[in-house]
Amino acid sequence: MSKTILVTGGAGFIGTHTCIKLIESGFDVLVLDNFSNSSPESLKRAESITGHSIPFIEGDINDAALLDEIFAQHAIDVVIHFAGLKSVGESVQQPLRYYHNNVSGTLVLCDAMQRAGVKNLVFSSSATVYGDPASLPIGEDFPTSAINPYGRSKLMIEELLADLYRADPEWNIALLRYFNPVGAHPSGLIGEDPAGIPNNLMPYIAQVAVGRRAHLTVFGGDYPTPDGTGVRDYIHVMDLAAGHVQALLWLEHRRGIKAFNLGTGQGYSVLDMLKAFEQACGKSLPYQLAERRPGDVASCYADPQLAAKELNWRAELDVQAMCADAWRWQSENPDGY
Ligand code: NAD
Ligand code: UD1
Repeated sequence: MSKTILVTGGAGFIGTHTCIKLIESGFDVLVLDNFSNSSPESLKRAESITGHSIPFIEGDINDAALLDEIFAQHAIDVVIHFAGLKSVGESVQQPLRYYHNNVSGTLVLCDAMQRAGVKNLVFSSSATVYGDPASLPIGEDFPTSAINPYGRSKLMIEELLADLYRADPEWNIALLRYFNPVGAHPSGLIGEDPAGIPNNLMPYIAQVAVGRRAHLTVFGGDYPTPDGTGVRDYIHVMDLAAGHVQALLWLEHRRGIKAFNLGTGQGYSVLDMLKAFEQACGKSLPYQLAERRPGDVASCYADPQLAAKELNWRAELDVQAMCADAWRWQSENPDGY
């Protein structure tokens, strides 16, 4: 019998792409999303890509009664927990909202899972938990720190999950630390659709390419990097989605809690990404150099060997594919969903 995965935040950017990979790998999925940063349209499109219906429940992870009902009515085997707010700037302005949604929401979810006896969890963490790394590439054993409420919410959740496992070793938890997810499904039907002005580099570049923004502002040209601009480990969202399938397989025969870096291990600068996107869209894209953005680190890229060894997972898609797929999504859906 196929396993049923409850996907919280499954209508969001990474969630929809992961639902597709899960369905293609033979899992049944059930999405729980409050659509605070998404809409049912993304799920409809994922349905048309897979040819399978994707059942969803509109609701909040902070709603304990709803969660009890879901676990009573569905034989859930594993929860993949994407639901969360993710804007760093917003988290600085509204810390309580972020802690309530991300941290309390995870507590309420874990409580309900414990009541239902469902103790298999894949959690969306972030490379942000490494703060400003002392050296590169970043291994999972590097010290963790956070400099904003969003990052702190991820660290708090990692720590509370570790406590949960210490208290009850029946829990089985994969903490997936994503580096910089970009790209889109190759069909061009689904992709990243940020509300308002994008904070992140790739959606911003894509909106410049499609004519919604005049130019890219490059935050800092004086970093100790080859061209002076910030270096990151961009990872194609389809590779990231595949990493979740591998994490599920890992959970089947391992006990415990473990963190895994999901990155490519390669660093690219802001200007590298801009050039790659210019190639993908066939246009030259204007940019202006500006001051560094507060809180940014110079360079951040993963040592992805643990995931290769234990999850049998490696990123396969290159920067050209990331840009080509992001461009197909953006050019065919200039205003998003
Ligand atoms: P997203 O905003 O597109 O998806 C998150 C989804 O969760 C949305 O559909 C939103 O409506 C839903 N949601 C939020 N709060 C909820 C709640 N209380 N109850 C139910 N649903 C709720 O974001 P994403 O990029 O797909 O990120 C998914 C997860 O991965 C998040 O936890 C994020 O912090 C983490 N992450 C993302 C990145 C990135 O760059 N995209 C990097 C590292 C980690
Ligand atoms: C940001 C968040 C991080 C979060 C991650 C995933 C901050 C400080 N960090 O990471 O916590 O986990 O997103 O969503 O917000 N850049 C520009 N111009 C732009 C946008 C970005 O030059 O308009 C540069 C940045 O300075 C950086 C690189 O592009 O060097 C990548 O930025 P971004 O996409 O925002 O990701 P991170 O900062 O790595």
